[in-house]
Amino acid sequence: MRTIEPAQLSIPQLQGLLQGAIAPRPIAFVATCDSRGAVNLSPFSFYNLFSAHPPVLIFSPALRARDGSSKHTLENLREVPECTVNGVTHAMVQQTSLASSEYPRGVDEFVKSGCTPIPSTQVAPPRVAESPVQMECRVIEIKALGQGPGAGNLVICEIVLMHINEGIFNEQGSIDPFKSDWVARLGGDWYARSSQGLFTVPKPLSTLGIGVDALPHSVRRSTVLTGNDLGLLGNLEKLPAPEDCKKARSKMKLDPILGDDYNVTGDDHNVTGDDHNVTQDDYSMTGDDHNVTQDDYSMTGEKKNVTGEDQTLVEAHLMHKQERVHRLAQKWIADGHVQNALALLMAYEMESE
Ligand SMILES: Cc1cc2nc3c(=O)[nH]c(=O)nc-3n(C[C@H](O)[C@H](O)[C@H](O)COP(=O)(O)O)c2cc1C
Repeated sequence: MRTIEPAQLSIPQLQGLLQGAIAPRPIAFVATCDSRGAVNLSPFSFYNLFSAHPPVLIFSPALRARDGSSKHTLENLREVPECTVNGVTHAMVQQTSLASSEYPRGVDEFVKSGCTPIPSTQVAPPRVAESPVQMECRVIEIKALGQGPGAGNLVICEIVLMHINEGIFNEQGSIDPFKSDWVARLGGDWYARSSQGLFTVPKPLSTLGIGVDALPHSVRRSTVLTGNDLGLLGNLEKLPAPEDCKKARSKMKLDPILGDDYNVTGDDHNVTGDDHNVTQDDYSMTGDDHNVTQDDYSMTGEKKNVTGEDQTLVEAHLMHKQERVHRLAQKWIADGHVQNALALLMAYEMESE
């Protein structure tokens, strides 16, 4: 790990590092106006939702890195403490980027970026028609976070009215992440597009999972199972019953001897009723890379009492075997059969005790 004290870095170095580390960040496309009604539009990725009741969002126009001067957005908010915050989709990301250019004060970035202003209902600044979510906001507080170049200014806003495009709702009335197609900012020139590579993480059990600490030591220390695998195992409601483990042990044909004895095929591994559809090939249980046979390990028959080099070989073999069991469990977890995977792991644990 690289250990970094913020104070040791220059402001641009630190800012670059932070923007890479705290990412991806959603983008607020903020419209403001000054006391004479001149409109400004700029993007801010130091932005997020902070409360639902009352509905509060925050964003931060920093003092300019170049000379520590205030950005126009901040100056406007001090004059007229209202804004609209508009979400940024992939279809409007280039116009958003253009609006971040440092046009002189008084230049309307709606005009420069070609975005379409539409009047707001409750606040003076207009909304961005191209954005599927437009929020009318009143400033609760502006908190300066420091002085000089790079210092942020926390703008805390209450959302007083939301306008949401019908087209981004799903049938259940929630905002559909594929339809909304938000973009977010990372470090440097990098952006992320939320509709690409989406995945879901169901909320943890409300009845409380057993926790990773309840898993056997060998499972927690596994070199095969990932943190995500452990998280899913720890979210199970209970440890498998001894009968399930026993069933797993016999069904899996777990045996101190590696190799063909596993014989894991479709029906065989149906530990607690679910069909995993796992075949021997899927798991390379007898693959060439393993090439482990009963003879190699001489753990049965005439060579039961292994010592010295043999002992090392046996230990290596057992590690290898555990790895293969863990790989099988991992596949089951990926297939959604988490409870059965834990039964398999516990069965192996019992077998190797
Ligand atoms: C996607 C994106 C996100 C940005 N986020 C921020 C930010 O969070 N804070 C900030 O001070 N500047 C941010 N900027 C830079 C400002 O948009 C830029 O300084 C702009 O000129 C400010 O405009 P203004 O002076 O009219 O307020 C961002 C730029 C882009 C393209």
